[in-house]
Amino acid sequence: MDVFQQYESEVRSYCRAFPKVFTKAKGAHIHCEDGTRYLDFFAGAGALNYGHNPDLVKQRLIEYLQQDGILHGLDMYTDAKGHFLKSLQERILIPRKLDYRVQFCGPTGTNAVEAALKIARKVKGRRNIFAFQGGYHGMTLGALACTGNAYNRKGASTALPDVTFMPYPFGAMKDIDTIAYIDAVLSDTSSGVDKPAAMVLETIQAEGGVVVAPVEWLQKIRALCDKHDILMIVDDIQVGCGRSGGFFSFERAGIVPDIVTLSKSISGSGLPLAIVLLKPELDKWLPGEHNGTFRGNQLAFVSGVAGIELFEQLNIPKQVEEKSAFVGCELAAIIERVDPRMELRGLGLIWGVDLSPLKNEKLIDVITENCFDAGLIIENAGRKGQVLKLLPPLTVTMDELSLGLEIIERSMKKAL
Ligand SMILES: Cc1ncc(COP(=O)(O)O)c(C=O)c1O
Repeated sequence: MDVFQQYESEVRSYCRAFPKVFTKAKGAHIHCEDGTRYLDFFAGAGALNYGHNPDLVKQRLIEYLQQDGILHGLDMYTDAKGHFLKSLQERILIPRKLDYRVQFCGPTGTNAVEAALKIARKVKGRRNIFAFQGGYHGMTLGALACTGNAYNRKGASTALPDVTFMPYPFGAMKDIDTIAYIDAVLSDTSSGVDKPAAMVLETIQAEGGVVVAPVEWLQKIRALCDKHDILMIVDDIQVGCGRSGGFFSFERAGIVPDIVTLSKSISGSGLPLAIVLLKPELDKWLPGEHNGTFRGNQLAFVSGVAGIELFEQLNIPKQVEEKSAFVGCELAAIIERVDPRMELRGLGLIWGVDLSPLKNEKLIDVITENCFDAGLIIENAGRKGQVLKLLPPLTVTMDELSLGLEIIERSMKKAL
C-alpha cells in the first residue's frame, strides 16, 4: 500500500474509500491480494455493465491478441473498427431507427463531451450552452464548465465560460415549472442569456445523486430545443448501454437527441472507448479538425462488439426490468425498517438512497465504510455526497443482489 501513498498523486480518490490492493475480478466480484473478495456495486462507475471479465469478451480479446491484431491504429481503417461500426449500426442503431454518424474521439467520456460541445457550437455558430444544475459531464475544461459540482469546478482554477445552468426538475426546483422558465428565458430578447447552441443533459443524473428526469420533462425539453432551434445533446455515458433498461436511456421518453455521447460500457469490458453519435446533417467536421492519437482503441472495438452481442444474448432489457423491480421493492422495505425519512430514487439498475433528510452529513461515509468492511463496494453521490448509489453490473445475480442489499441494511443499522 505504501507504494501508492509514497508515489501516487494526492488526486487519487476511489482508492481512499476502498483501501485494498485488487488483483483480479470476475462477474460482480473483485478480489484482493490478501485473499478477500468484494461484491462490486460500483461496477467501474458504470463501465462494467456486463460485469468483470465476461467470458465472451475475454475469449475475443485473447483471439485478437493471438492473431497479432492491430493494437494501435490512430484513426486508420482497421477490421476491428469496421466490425464495431457495423455491429453498432446493424444491431443497435438501425433497429431503433436511429440515423447517426459515429465520431471516435479520445477514449474517455469527457473527450466525447468536448467533441459534442465543439461540433454543436460550430454548427450553430453560437458560443453559449445550456447545462443543468446537478449535472456531471467530466473534468476537462469544456465538460467541467457544464458540470454543476462546486468542488470539481473549483479545481479548474480558471474561468469556465459560455455555459448557463438551467434548473433540473429536482429539489427546490421541483416545485417550479422548469420548462416554462427555460422557455421564458429563451423567448425573452431581454433575458440577458445568450441563446445556446445546445442543451446538454443526462436523462438520469447519476453523479448528481440518481435524479431521474420524468419522461414528460424530457419530451418537453426536446420540444423546446426544436422550437428554439437548439441542439439536444444527451450525455448517456453513465446511464446508457442498458443501465436504464433500453440500450439508450432516452428510449423511455421516445425522443431522439441530435447528439449522443457514449463511453464507459460501450467497450463491453471496461477498456477505454468513447464515441459521439451525430445526426448526419450535423457532421460538419473538417478532416482532422478534432484530432487525437488515441481515437481508436482497437481492443475496445473488439470487446465492444462482444458487449453488443452480450446485450442481445443476455436479453439485458428483460434482466434489468426484473432486477430493477426487485431492488426498488427491497430498498423501499429497507428504508421503511431503518429510517423512513430517507428518500429512494432510481430506474433500471441505478438506484440512490438519499440520506439528506436525516441531516447528518457524516453518516453516509460510515455506511459505505461499514459496507466495505462487510464485503461490499458501493459509492456515494449527489449534493454533499449524501446519496448512496447502487450501480451493480447488469449481469449481477439475484442472490448477489440480495446479499448486497442485506449488507446495506446491516451497515445502515450499525451506522445509526
Ligand atoms: C454522465 C457522465 N458524463 C461524462 C463523464 C466523464 O467520463 P470520464 O470520467 O470517462 O471522463 C461521466 C463520468 O462519470 C459521466 O457520468
